[in-house]
Amino acid sequence: MSVVPSPLDNNSCDTAIRASFLHFNADPDRRGDAFEYLEDGLMILKQGRIQMLVNATDWIDYLPDGSALYDYSGRLVMPGFIDAHTHYPQTEMIASHGLQLLDWLQQYTFPTEEKFAERDHADRIAAFFCEQMLANGTTTSAVYATVHPQSVDAIFEQAQQRDLCLIAGKVMMDRNAPPALCDSVESSYRDCSELIKRWHLQGRNHYAVTPRFAPCSSPGQLEVCAQLLNESPDLYLQSHVAENRDEVEWVARLFPDSRSYLDVYDSHGLLGPRSIYGHCIHLDQQDRERMAASGAAIAFCPTSNLFLGSGLFSLEDASALGIRLGLATDVGAGTSFSMLQTLAEAYKICQLGGQRLTPLKAFYLVTLGAAESLYLDHRIGNFTPGKEADFVVLDLAATELMQCRMDNASTLEERLFALMMLGDDRCVQATHVMGKRQYSRPN
Ligand code: GUN
Ligand code: ZN
Repeated sequence: MSVVPSPLDNNSCDTAIRASFLHFNADPDRRGDAFEYLEDGLMILKQGRIQMLVNATDWIDYLPDGSALYDYSGRLVMPGFIDAHTHYPQTEMIASHGLQLLDWLQQYTFPTEEKFAERDHADRIAAFFCEQMLANGTTTSAVYATVHPQSVDAIFEQAQQRDLCLIAGKVMMDRNAPPALCDSVESSYRDCSELIKRWHLQGRNHYAVTPRFAPCSSPGQLEVCAQLLNESPDLYLQSHVAENRDEVEWVARLFPDSRSYLDVYDSHGLLGPRSIYGHCIHLDQQDRERMAASGAAIAFCPTSNLFLGSGLFSLEDASALGIRLGLATDVGAGTSFSMLQTLAEAYKICQLGGQRLTPLKAFYLVTLGAAESLYLDHRIGNFTPGKEADFVVLDLAATELMQCRMDNASTLEERLFALMMLGDDRCVQATHVMGKRQYSRPN
């Protein structure tokens, strides 16, 4: 009797995941075969990286002795969600009532951020924030800390403990904010340089130069941002632009020589690959063309834009020019940590503008699309061999209503659409980071 040799051994497999799998290899609006779906799949991992994704029935008998098997049969596994813009210090002020951006910052945000002068407070909120990421299936985030350097240490430390992939930085503001939250041109340069040395490209951490937004930074501080970017390779730059009409008018008064709000950043050398701009609602066509040509990314923050009444982002205008784009929670102006709920609100914003957001495009945008927009697609975003094994295990029938809806859904796309419209953290059964299970939903 001949024995079929197993191509799997302990050198190629230490962990296997059995489930249904969905991941993308391109933008589904541009390619018909942009995704792969396996009803009964087996994902083979070695040291936290993907080795291969195959049919379970063909391979399940060949797992090497001693390898771990996670059997998530009946669940849907997708790449870990990517949140392109959020503020961990605002976690405990999420859902603060009644104001639009500039008043909301004064009344709620700045007092909340002042508490991060205390390292213990920063540690506690950073830990809670990372747990919320995991409970929502988010494995990569671009995060604002506060002006305090220790608030950056806190979030990188907590992320590192869980192996999360993080882009984060110290908020820079040297004007138009309470004195307790202001740095200076000199101190921000010094503090950021030290933080970059300590954290940038350490494990899965990436440093982002983080001027809060143009009204809070003097031209001199914006020059410091450019200097920092020039001094270290592969740094990110994150800020806000064109979120709210009063904000846009204020920037026009503060920078009368700039053609537009975006041009303030552009003229300071802050628009390029690895720049992430939150909101981008009130841009004009010339701004959008600059975004596209520069390689910068938009972080579309639907729950925040609705909550603060900021306006309706045009996904169609951004997509038409091929601007890099990710979805973002923008906690605490955003009202949810869930990328599923974020997609639901993105869909409704598109509806209000007479635009389409298909479920395939939606899930592309929170996985591979976001990874591409952040220049991380060589490491994360799908299940290509060699990539880091970050993934979320989803229960599409987590609630009775979802079960009822799924019973009446006949296609994958219908099920995905119901997932994004009705789903939230209750659908997240488990979250794995670099292959390891970092979160399991309590029964
Ligand atoms: N613009 C400047 N700072 C902020 C912030 O913290 N949240 C939002 N949504 N917009 C901003
Ligand atoms: Zn924000």
